[in-house]
Amino acid sequence: MAGRIIEEDKKLPAHIALIMDGNGRWAKKRLMPRSFGHKKGMERMIGLMEHAFDMGVRYMTVYALSTENLKRPQEELNGLFDLIRNHFSQYMSRICARGVRLKIIGDISLLPPDVQEILRDSEQKTSHYEGKGINVALCYGARAEIVRAANLAIERGEPLTEASFSELLYTGGQPDPDLIIRTGKEVRLSNFLLWQAAYAELYFSDKMFPEFTDSDLEKAIEWYGARTRRFGKTDEQL
Ligand code: FPP
Repeated sequence: MAGRIIEEDKKLPAHIALIMDGNGRWAKKRLMPRSFGHKKGMERMIGLMEHAFDMGVRYMTVYALSTENLKRPQEELNGLFDLIRNHFSQYMSRICARGVRLKIIGDISLLPPDVQEILRDSEQKTSHYEGKGINVALCYGARAEIVRAANLAIERGEPLTEASFSELLYTGGQPDPDLIIRTGKEVRLSNFLLWQAAYAELYFSDKMFPEFTDSDLEKAIEWYGARTRRFGKTDEQL
């Protein structure tokens, strides 16, 4: 399966973005705390990243915490911060050993200082890699990202093009996501990569994130491979 996808170049998305929804509901169904769902979610996130990079995907963006999620009960947030404290560096170094550069996207100044340090340190260790990347969205909101980029543009005082504006986003220099996958039965983007998603194919799964398997990812990629991406043109022009 993986080999076949790599051969059919255009059928493989260069950049996959993931909205990892459903950890809480998955845990609740098992009478477990939400933090248990997040732990399973983090393990699944790492497994899917390994599988995707092994298949030849070059970029992955994962939505780990939105700005709005910061309003959640402190206990749940502490659970997520503890996951970063206890597992983030080790898990990420496993993936990044494949030559993958890590970027944290979002306003992490809103996180506890020790957590910020772990994230910056993990980023730093991979800063020499090029061509493959993971973006972990934390305290992220797409509208805030766009406003931030607009303010950078104002500071520069130069006229913008779509391409030069894209460069000012957190994802500057990377291909836009080709495929955005959302688990957890909801059918919305929830303020995720709004600019970058302009031509992404959107795939929604009813599965809760902890139960979204490697073979579910392959199915999503196969579905993507069967789409005709016209980017506004007609079939005949392609
Ligand atoms: C949304 O589902 C998920 C989150 C807010 C957290 C996602 C985090 C992970 C998958 C792992 C942690 C990764 C890092 C890098 C810290 P939900 O929990 O709101 O699910 P629900 O809709 O069922 O309540």
